[in-house]
Amino acid sequence: MGDVSYKDLGLSNTKEMFKKAMDGGYAIPAYNFNNMEQLQAIIIGCTESKSPLILQVSSGARKYANQTLLRYMAMGAVEMMKDMGGSIPIALHLDHGDTFELCKSCIDSGFSSVMIDGSHHPFDKNIELTKQVVEYAHSKDVTVEGELGVLAGIEDDVSSEVSHYTKPEEVEEFVNKTGVDSLAISIGTSHGAYKFKLSDGESPPPLRFDILEDIEKRIAGFPIVLHGASSVIPEYIETINKFGGKMDNAVGISEDQLRKAARSAVCKINIDSDGRLAVTATIRKVFADKPGEFDPRKYLGPAREELVKMIKNKNENVLGSAGKA
Ligand code: G3H
Ligand code: 13P
Ligand code: ZN
Repeated sequence: MGDVSYKDLGLSNTKEMFKKAMDGGYAIPAYNFNNMEQLQAIIIGCTESKSPLILQVSSGARKYANQTLLRYMAMGAVEMMKDMGGSIPIALHLDHGDTFELCKSCIDSGFSSVMIDGSHHPFDKNIELTKQVVEYAHSKDVTVEGELGVLAGIEDDVSSEVSHYTKPEEVEEFVNKTGVDSLAISIGTSHGAYKFKLSDGESPPPLRFDILEDIEKRIAGFPIVLHGASSVIPEYIETINKFGGKMDNAVGISEDQLRKAARSAVCKINIDSDGRLAVTATIRKVFADKPGEFDPRKYLGPAREELVKMIKNKNENVLGSAGKA
């Protein structure tokens, strides 16, 4: 497979998107996908709600879907959006890249934005690795997200039992020395469907907006990213548990907290788990209601429809990105 620039695929980097999101007080949704139905739902949901979009691919997703196929899927997604009469900017972003080589490979195969997640390394090593990726990415007009602070939960192959909040006193040096375009921070979100261990009747703790505010003061106007930001939508958990699933104690970030974050310097909000739950809840219900069904279109189709609904609701009522493209 030869090299290709994202520009030839009709994709955009995140620079302009983040500038507008910062000025407009909303956040761009970054939806993860692994297969065709998820990609279709994301394109339909964002085109219909006229929201700028970051299509997000983890290294696991890249292995799962095949990297060559992915390139053409992204290209097809842009064409599908145009066929629908849309004109939304779409970025193709590597989620949690862990090496320079992986980031380079994605850039060379048409990604318009990459994350280099050096958050598990010591500060100086994180700077060195991030800077190396930035130098290559910027030579191709590709934008880069870095990370400071560690989220609890699983970040691809790396898992952490506890979170380490971002230290505000480190952000300025990190941003200046690396040249990154955006920064993922840890203020109490975490990956997956089990974000907090709560006793009966206890509510999840609020996000650490005090840390966010301190960071915003130190690097005013700089785009901040929130990972692990699914709400773990309770209706989906109920449906999953009702139809044979077992997801007790699954809990996420409340929509109110996310609305507050979206109005701040948080310009990108990552959502993977909520999409997985929408699909799983719908498929479980179809299987329970129609046990004789074996045509994948009859359960993946409704799952796709539900995902479109979820995405439109996020864009319109939580992130505020609807109508901004
Ligand atoms: O942050 C992790 C994302 O949810 C991607 O998950 O590595 O299982 O594809 P994955
Ligand atoms: P969730 O697991 O909360 O959806 O977070 C996804 C994410 O941060 C992808 O990088
Ligand atoms: Zn993440």
